[in-house]
Amino acid sequence: MSLIFEATEENITKAAERMKNGGLVALPTETVYGLGADATNDRAVASIFAAKGRPSFNPVIVHFRSKEEAADAVVFNYQAELLAALFWPGPLTMILPRRDDTDISKLCSAGLPTLAVRCPSHPVARKLIKVLQKPIAAPSANASGSLSPTTPQHVLLSLGGNAGMILAGGKAAVGLESTVVDLTGEVPVLLRPGAVTLENLQQHLGEVLLEFSVTSEKPKSPGQLLKHYAPKTPLRLKAVDVKPGEALLAFGSAKFMGVAGGGAAKDLPQEAYQNLSEKGDLEEAAAHLFSMLHYLDAGGFESIAVMDIPDTGLGVAINDRLRRAAGAQKHP
Ligand code: TXA
Ligand code: MG
Repeated sequence: MSLIFEATEENITKAAERMKNGGLVALPTETVYGLGADATNDRAVASIFAAKGRPSFNPVIVHFRSKEEAADAVVFNYQAELLAALFWPGPLTMILPRRDDTDISKLCSAGLPTLAVRCPSHPVARKLIKVLQKPIAAPSANASGSLSPTTPQHVLLSLGGNAGMILAGGKAAVGLESTVVDLTGEVPVLLRPGAVTLENLQQHLGEVLLEFSVTSEKPKSPGQLLKHYAPKTPLRLKAVDVKPGEALLAFGSAKFMGVAGGGAAKDLPQEAYQNLSEKGDLEEAAAHLFSMLHYLDAGGFESIAVMDIPDTGLGVAINDRLRRAAGAQKHP
């Protein structure tokens, strides 16, 4: 029996029932699929970590339907109000001080005085929160240390029966995990770049500190660990040619890419050649990144050559995920 269920009214109700009883449900969001539990149920939240094989209790994002509902759990400052008005519902997670009286499980904060809150825009995620009548704690629905899932099939491949029930809601439109910004200090800190770009944040907040360099020794956000987002096949970034035994992940035109030893990259078989965006569009590239990495990773290549991607706008987030994926193999 498949664990994948189309997100019909009936199946959403079934999923909410499951969560009311402390069960897990993998759900679609606009960024990536999440592995969700009732955020107010300690045991349910704890079981997320076991299902993902996470070595420790990292903090998890709690998903709400509106800013007003999130404001019952955390304290909004002016900057948070502004960002919520501009970017919610959408791919932005804010770290804010937890309220003392919130019934959100302390496990979601992993011992920190803060909580990560987000308002997803995906209609299935929103409907599920509505039917459950509770906020949903959800990290990405993949086994710890592997690529984030952008389709229900990715969830099934990575978590199998540990996912409980998988609600299918199409391919994730954004394709990269949400932007994470810490608003608890004087100056906002970008902990994870995403579809709400650094430029977007700077435009509305002024100065923004960056804390997602992969060289950072002590990551503030545990998700910054290099091990994250790793495919099994090594990646070779900023490639200008394809070596024998390699696959190519292209961006823009690959017309002039050569294969070392002879031949053109554009003549590689489809199994060895994927293009994030032929026309060089960063949004399209972000939406394809994880699914194409998943696909090429399964091909048994010696490595994956990745063409250069500009480091502006959404390119910052794409390059961040690529550097982590590449760095993971160099620093096991
Ligand atoms: O797009 C997304 O954000 C997806 C979907 C399902 O919403 N979720 C997701 O969750 O990517 P996860 O757990 O894979 O990544 C959450 C990131 C991690 O890097 C975690 O360490 C960080 O947010 N985080 C969560 N709570 C935090 C907190 N209180 N302080 C600092 N970082 C926090
Ligand atoms: Mg994750």
